[in-house]
Amino acid sequence: MDHFQLRDGVLYAEDVPMPVIAEDVGTPVYIYSRATLVRHARVFRDALSGLKHPHIAFAVKANPNLAVLRVLANEGYGADVVSGGELTRALAAGMKPEDIVFSGVGKTHAELQQGLEEGIGQFNIESEEEGYELAAIARRMGKRAACALRVNPDVDARTHEKISTGKRENKFGVPLDKAQEIYTALAGEDGLDMRGIAIHIGSQLADLEPLETAFGKVGELIAALRAGGCTVTHADLGGGLGVPYKAGEELPQPAEYGAMVERVTKDWDVTLMFEPGRVIAGNAGVLLTRVIRVKRGIERPFVVVDAAMNDLARPAMYGAWHDFEAVEPTGEKTISHIVGPICETGDTFAMDRECDVLTADDLAVFRTAGAYGATMASSYNSRGFVAEVLVDGDKYAVVADRIAAGAIMDAERVPDWLD
Ligand code: LLP
Repeated sequence: MDHFQLRDGVLYAEDVPMPVIAEDVGTPVYIYSRATLVRHARVFRDALSGLKHPHIAFAVKANPNLAVLRVLANEGYGADVVSGGELTRALAAGMKPEDIVFSGVGKTHAELQQGLEEGIGQFNIESEEEGYELAAIARRMGKRAACALRVNPDVDARTHEKISTGKRENKFGVPLDKAQEIYTALAGEDGLDMRGIAIHIGSQLADLEPLETAFGKVGELIAALRAGGCTVTHADLGGGLGVPYKAGEELPQPAEYGAMVERVTKDWDVTLMFEPGRVIAGNAGVLLTRVIRVKRGIERPFVVVDAAMNDLARPAMYGAWHDFEAVEPTGEKTISHIVGPICETGDTFAMDRECDVLTADDLAVFRTAGAYGATMASSYNSRGFVAEVLVDGDKYAVVADRIAAGAIMDAERVPDWLD
């Protein structure tokens, strides 16, 4: 359920007609709905209500906008961060340091140190090497770092290969069959408090079965670690729950996920942690765009919109589908190609898509753009960075300014020795 609905023939974001935002802020622009974010945050939390004190850390990479993070902080969410930049944002948005988990295969020395200085709740370490480095930094600072060891369970998440993370050949985590040895070795380090296991097998999962298989392996590992004398008090089950990108698509509901987790983990006796991203933010955002012109094609028209692959990279990167709708649909449908202005064929949002008839200057939206949308933007083709707006009932605010191409150019210089 989201709060982007037609009213009297016009698409609204909550109680704000989208043309009002387009006039005021310009296009392309991401629009987020506070009510939708809150709803998703609560549905996910409620799905886990059968668990004892679950810890939910929003995967900041999905949508790092400060206002979005604040909405989630107000809902009691912590943050899963993967860089010093995300850590700084999560803190700036009001997330408590102890509710922050630091994931990622390439945390730098400076980032490990930053995490310790800020007193974050947990490091999810992804290799033995990282563990020793963190231990040394912590010792030097007179601290102990609470850690989970991320394991790679060698499970195929059956999602797009670029966002699948739990197969043996992927770079993430330590191999399951080495996990006990590494955990035991790291548990002997003064600077570390090895307290748990972490896992994340991929994103946009359309099926719970791979998750259940992976969690089962974590359960066996926890038992083996305890039998070997190690302490395990936490298990971080990552994120990954998919969302519908096409109207009518059915995906596992958070409640089904919660029931599965409860069943699989009932004897674990740990604090469970979660890192949802897309399921919270995906359908809480749209990308509003304006048609530049409709170009006659050989078989179909090309609807050229002012958003491009630099603003919403998912179709170009993963062949991803985003529903595309007119803001003021006439009811008439046609089949078109939807493309952006960037000079490569990859800048295609959809081919042969049945959609509303559109003409120059009409407004349209790409749906399900609240996760992995603005955050993946670039300035390719010397386009600026897209603006972001948060709607709350009948009010809205620009929560990220558009960064003009000129402002990006201002950060560049030509050394005088070139002349
Ligand atoms: N935890 C870890 C360690 C992750 O790597 C990720 C996502 C998440 C949690 C959140 O996963 P979610 O609940 O959102 O599925 N850019 C891609 C998605 C990349 C996901 C990367 N990791 C896309 O647009 O589909």
